[in-house]
Amino acid sequence: MSSIVNVSGLGKTYEGGFTALHSVDLEIREGEILALLGPNGAGKTTLISTICGLTNATSGSVTVGGFDIREDWRAARRLIGLVPQEINLEPFEKVGNTVRFSRGLFGLPRDEALIDRVLKSLSLDDKKDERIRHLSGGMKRRVLIAKALVHEPRVLFLDEPTAGVDVELRRDMWELVDQLRADGVTIILTTHYIEEAEAIADRIGVINKGELLLIEDKAALMARLGKKQMVIELAEPVDAIPAGLMDFDLTRSDDGRGLTYTYEAGGKRTGITRLLAAVQGAGLVLADVETKQSSLEEIFVGLVHEGAA
Ligand SMILES: Nc1ncnc2c1ncn2[C@@H]1O[C@H](COP(=O)(O)OP(=O)(O)OP(=O)(O)O)[C@@H](O)[C@H]1O
Ligand SMILES: [Mg+2]
Repeated sequence: MSSIVNVSGLGKTYEGGFTALHSVDLEIREGEILALLGPNGAGKTTLISTICGLTNATSGSVTVGGFDIREDWRAARRLIGLVPQEINLEPFEKVGNTVRFSRGLFGLPRDEALIDRVLKSLSLDDKKDERIRHLSGGMKRRVLIAKALVHEPRVLFLDEPTAGVDVELRRDMWELVDQLRADGVTIILTTHYIEEAEAIADRIGVINKGELLLIEDKAALMARLGKKQMVIELAEPVDAIPAGLMDFDLTRSDDGRGLTYTYEAGGKRTGITRLLAAVQGAGLVLADVETKQSSLEEIFVGLVHEGAA
């Protein structure tokens, strides 16, 4: 798959001397959905706004569709849509005008049918003549998205599109992302909702303290770092882990009724068959068996803590 955004050695030190990005390298593939995860202050917004050319990098370079964001900023920006984290709309302006104006900024001809289509895809079709200040927070967020889409960008950056929005809008947003992906738009989103990244992303990047800790295919990441657990419930409690089971990575619950076995989710040999045979061999009777897989959330928390150590 060819790449559409190339970020090389990107660094940002703000006035005052704080370094929010340390030499980030990142290649974004055409048509993918990339989710960037990271705690507050990790540098997600800085990374996005530097890629989009809204913030000047201190070092490194960015190209979008082959155009350098500084040398060829007009061509590069034409390919980019950005939905910022902060709502920055003109309160007295009408929805339709706001969106129309955004398209005009790119020097594109008026296209009322396109504007209507975009508004409709965001369930804003009945709000075209409404003033921004009369909209709810979630509707304003939809207007931000409409503004970012109306020049038909090939790469869309969504900086926490679902922060503080209700369940319904979140679902709409995911549907819209799906629709855009089907149209071939590349999407980069930041989120604090790990289940969101788990649900919609192809690849996951984790940022902490201005560094990209990893970037990996979601499935591979979960297979590599995910742990599985099997919880064995015993018919009769045990005082200690029986000698015949010492070879296994087992923990005993406080009441002695549960034994938890942890193994690699991606591993070919899980050891489960051997363990169950050993349990039987030790004369224990099973009451129940349950398996659990770690979520992306656990992987993420583990990574960020490791990085902080
Ligand atoms: N204009 C600025 N001047 C100085 N420091 C800044 C500026 N903007 C951001 N920072 C600092 O850079 C760091 C990264 O901020 P950034 O907004 O990129 O984080 P983030 O990952 O988007 O966080 P959040 O999840 O809260 O949105 C923070 O420590 C922040 O205080
Ligand atoms: Mg941010």
